Amino acid sequence: MAAVRALLPRVRAVLRPPARGPALRAFASGANFEYIITEKKGKNGSVGLIRLNRPKVLNALCNGLIEEMNQALEAFEKDPTVGAIVLTGGDKAFAAGADIKEMKNQTLQDCYSSNFLSHWDRLTQVKKPVIAAVNGYALGGGCELAMMCDIIYAGEKAQFAQPEILIGTIPGAGGTQRLTRAVGKSLAMEMVLTGDRLSAQDAKQAGLVSKIFPVETLVEEAIQCAEKIASNSKIIVAIAKESVNAAFEMTLTEGNKLEKKLFYSTFATDDQKEGMTAFVEKRKANFKDQ
Ligand code: CAA
Repeated sequence: MAAVRALLPRVRAVLRPPARGPALRAFASGANFEYIITEKKGKNGSVGLIRLNRPKVLNALCNGLIEEMNQALEAFEKDPTVGAIVLTGGDKAFAAGADIKEMKNQTLQDCYSSNFLSHWDRLTQVKKPVIAAVNGYALGGGCELAMMCDIIYAGEKAQFAQPEILIGTIPGAGGTQRLTRAVGKSLAMEMVLTGDRLSAQDAKQAGLVSKIFPVETLVEEAIQCAEKIASNSKIIVAIAKESVNAAFEMTLTEGNKLEKKLFYSTFATDDQKEGMTAFVEKRKANFKDQ
């Protein structure tokens, strides 16, 4: 019981009203980002949209772009009106990978001393659900970024690949790990060793993406899914996300144990009482994120 109670403050901390730090101030004043565009979407502004925006280089993921994306993620994480986030790119490219021109002269020492690519992981620490809406190329770091998200929706012309082998390196932002967990060893190994691309249809069949849509409606569909998620209790959504993600880190026994504790913890929330009472009273639940 004590362990269950101990979990709640962690979840609540994320959902607390924003401390007005620099990232949030920048966002609230309509920050002029160089490499991304951010907007609030959905009927009540409940969806945070981040659009990668370096079209001339197919959204190659330079350091500045990742830093801006992290800033936007933090602002949406702290914004109490946002319940879910959509990450997208352009019609031709979600992202064609880490910026090869930026990294080509780096030495081993540079990589080690700067912890190269470690700040990409910020995306995996966001408590609110993130949906990747992938049109066009999701290559190398682009594919890895999509796989850090919680749900991947693909446009029908999307292409996924880990082509690092073709430029003399290997995936460095989780590609060998997350792709293998998503599609199994044989296909992941083939993709990583050949650099071959997976079509949206093959990616869906392999379990990498959950749904495919026409190019022009993809982002709207992702926003609608995010809006649906955002209409649920934020605290329960965060708990559910934590529990599903634990499946990638734990044994089945450990994962089931954690799930049970998290399930019990929902009974300490007002929203569980409201949700079940609303069901019994045959009305729509009015969640307060408490
Ligand atoms: N980094 C930097 N610039 C890139 C880029 C990248 N990853 N991908 C594309 N660009 C640039 C090109 O250099 C080109 O710029 P210029 O006009 O200044 O020459 C512009 O984007 C358009 O690209 P192309 O002319 O090549 O367009 P295309 O339609 O002929 O080909 C493509 C498209 C197949 C995606 C091709 O650009 C390509 O193969 N890109 C590289 C893909 C890749 O290897 N990604 C992995 C990067 S390594 C990585 O991501 C490591 C990691 O794990 C984090």
